[in-house]
Amino acid sequence: MSESKSTNIKWHHGKISQEDRDKSMNQKGATIWFTGLSGSGKSTIAVELEHALIENGYKANILDGDNVRHGLNSNLGFSPEDRTENIRRIGEVAKLFTAANMLNITAFISPYRADRDVARATQGEGDFIEVYVKCSLEECEKRDTKGLYKKARAGEIPEFTGISAPYEEPENAELVLATDELSVDDSVRKVIDYLAEKGYITL
Ligand code: ADX
Repeated sequence: MSESKSTNIKWHHGKISQEDRDKSMNQKGATIWFTGLSGSGKSTIAVELEHALIENGYKANILDGDNVRHGLNSNLGFSPEDRTENIRRIGEVAKLFTAANMLNITAFISPYRADRDVARATQGEGDFIEVYVKCSLEECEKRDTKGLYKKARAGEIPEFTGISAPYEEPENAELVLATDELSVDDSVRKVIDYLAEKGYITL
């Protein structure tokens, strides 16, 4: 993490308690943090999950790796240091969305366990739900939805996750979605059931 250069600053508190916010929105905000290989299904599930939540009257939004790299994080590449900074920023943005009581879905490879742990630690207890979108490299490569594995194998993309850069599997994810076995609908259902069971939403 970069050293803080912000000095002489003070935290300003609002008047609305978290409880008031939960009540007014009929949900408890959280960050639903998808992690997994490129092509594992993170973005696809995120889109369907957001849709299902909103259809049911909840407030949800998505922060997606490819999208955020078009703007906020367009100055970052894929070295370990840049990925760490990518995830650090997203962790902070996710915290803001959680504080605004959104059901905030993030879809980033986030390959390093330590970086995900920083994102988790940024948020309050119970505000961070790590979801491992688990799919074998073989299957992701077979899908190759963006044609990137082929390029990575040909040496055209350096430091490609799973090929020439590591992916560290979660050890204590709140949920695991085995997408080479589950349909997209089944995965969405599993997340929604988890949210209901833990009281983030009321079905
Ligand atoms: S992360 O590792 O820093 O979390 P992030 O989720 O933001 O990655 O971005 C991943 C997306 O960037 C992939 O889905 C792919 O489209 C693209 N990409 C481009 N180069 C690479 C690379 N070297 N490794 C992984 N993904 C890459």
